[in-house]
Amino acid sequence: MPCKYRLLLKNAEQLVLVCRNEEQFLLQEGMQHLAVLEKASLVIGNDGFIKAVGPTETIQNQFSQAVFETIIDCTGKSVLPGFVDAHTHPVWAGDRVHEFAMKLAGATYMDIHQAGGGIHFTVNHTEAASEETLYCSFKQRLERMLRTGTTLVECKSGYGLQLESELKMLRVIERAYREMEIGISATYCGAHSVPKGKSAETAATEIIENHLPALKELAVNEEVHVDNIDVFCEKGVFDLQSTKRILQAGKAIGLNLNFHGDELNPMNSAELGAELGALAVSHLEEISDEGITAMAAAKCSAVLLPTTAYILRLKQPRARDMLNAGVIVSLGSDFNPNAYCFSMPMVMHLACVNLKMSLNEALAAATINAAYSLGKSHTHGSLEVGKQGDAVIINAPRWEHLIYQFGGHQELIKYVVIKGKIV
Ligand code: NIG
Ligand code: FE
Repeated sequence: MPCKYRLLLKNAEQLVLVCRNEEQFLLQEGMQHLAVLEKASLVIGNDGFIKAVGPTETIQNQFSQAVFETIIDCTGKSVLPGFVDAHTHPVWAGDRVHEFAMKLAGATYMDIHQAGGGIHFTVNHTEAASEETLYCSFKQRLERMLRTGTTLVECKSGYGLQLESELKMLRVIERAYREMEIGISATYCGAHSVPKGKSAETAATEIIENHLPALKELAVNEEVHVDNIDVFCEKGVFDLQSTKRILQAGKAIGLNLNFHGDELNPMNSAELGAELGALAVSHLEEISDEGITAMAAAKCSAVLLPTTAYILRLKQPRARDMLNAGVIVSLGSDFNPNAYCFSMPMVMHLACVNLKMSLNEALAAATINAAYSLGKSHTHGSLEVGKQGDAVIINAPRWEHLIYQFGGHQELIKYVVIKGKIV
């Protein structure tokens, strides 16, 4: 007789649901009181969705062990939802290890960018790389993310800039979306930098008139799907007006707005995100008080990226002010050739130490709230009945070890589960 259920996670010392009652995101108060069950079990069905969760005894009485394809005994271990990485740039060729040394010696991110390095360096190498080469390195990066517990990841293009090269990156993302277990939210980020010799205004027009119609056609033909549109709204990159034009045009073809703003300079990006109904704005080291209020009112998520502030020695984003004001705070790794970090546990650690978030807040920001920032919190980000069965099992009797221990997470994380399958 075929098994009726795919997986039983049995007798976890702690099982962190994160939230209950189908909350789509958590604000400060909810983030402080995560739902944690002691001595608990979780059932995932053959369709990959969660069928039951509760005290071990209750689950034992409801389900005979014979109905499960796989059983993991979680005695001595803790179970958490799979992590959602809300912001990455994972498709590229040519690392920038040489720039790391320059930055340590005092060069700023913009010094290097304006001298033709930074994003431009990566664009040149990415343009020269074949689609197959890009796919192979991308796949390896996704596998490394998986091993540190990421089960859903936002992936941006943005090292193409020119249409052909952007489409190459998006095809690479689409291939991984189809072939790999890890969940992917795909973002078109053709406005990541202004191509040499162009103004922001002409680059924006090119994107609106040529890139977006091409994306729409690919979506209609089901060749490449894109979920979100991103722009690097920054002094010397895309100004507020060009950013607005691009985002409005993206919205008109059905893309979620999810963009870089207020990172190195105050730009009123947060206010723009709120005005346009963006799902999220990332970075926000230089957000204004008005921007915080506007984002809270508009339920626009702030995707904070503690790796970037850390490696560039920037001012830290004001997480506490945002939390106090009722902003939906999320976290992302910002994996890219500047901030080479795959690991959401490391991101949560930095969020606690540098952004002064609590352990509970950091976990909520890296699960349910990050899922919200991608428009996926109805299916991802918490261990509730009806949601996708994505979980992380750690070798520790209390879940907080995940953030307390920094580095060496591959030893701590025993299993990663996606749709009830051990991956
Ligand atoms: O989020 N700020 C813009 N984009 C990236 C950096 C990309 C790069 O330097 O290659 C970021 O940090
Ligand atoms: Fe980024």
